[in-house]
Amino acid sequence: MTNPDPSLADALSSGSRCRLVELPKFPDPRGSLTFAEGARHVPFVVRRAYWLYDVPGGQIRGGHAYARLEEFFVALSGSFDVAIDDGTATTRVNLRRSYVGLYVPAMHWRQLEKFSTNAVCLILASTKYDEHDYVRDYDNFRALASSSVE
Ligand code: TYD
Repeated sequence: MTNPDPSLADALSSGSRCRLVELPKFPDPRGSLTFAEGARHVPFVVRRAYWLYDVPGGQIRGGHAYARLEEFFVALSGSFDVAIDDGTATTRVNLRRSYVGLYVPAMHWRQLEKFSTNAVCLILASTKYDEHDYVRDYDNFRALASSSVE
């Protein structure tokens, strides 16, 4: 799919399993409309949605990986960075368009930072909330990530 913002596409290396998805956009004098369908624009069946808002300047969310969970991030308002570590390299993607989503597969350490004032981050998720799916220890993540590619 064509990326509307080449600077965003540059952030993801060709070998990355993360990807940016341009969502349908209906510009209208009354205001723009964008939508996302699970298993179509979002590359998994959506089982949960949650959102981050009222994030004070300088705060960081995330800082962990998931063993099974896949996620899809959209900056509904404002902007923020998603730092993604696949166990070998870290990529930083700035999300700032409400018609661009970022897909992050399981076993990627993610950290959300540099939230702008009034940023709203929508996250569509492939499973219901499961605390046991979290990988919160970075060394454990590195060990799991390296064993999963062997
Ligand atoms: P957490 O995923 O740890 O947030 P972050 O990674 O940004 O620090 O979630 C914070 C709390 O919110 C956690 O204690 C449990 C709760 N929570 C739910 O109950 N359901 C959910 O879907 C999510 C994402 C979090």
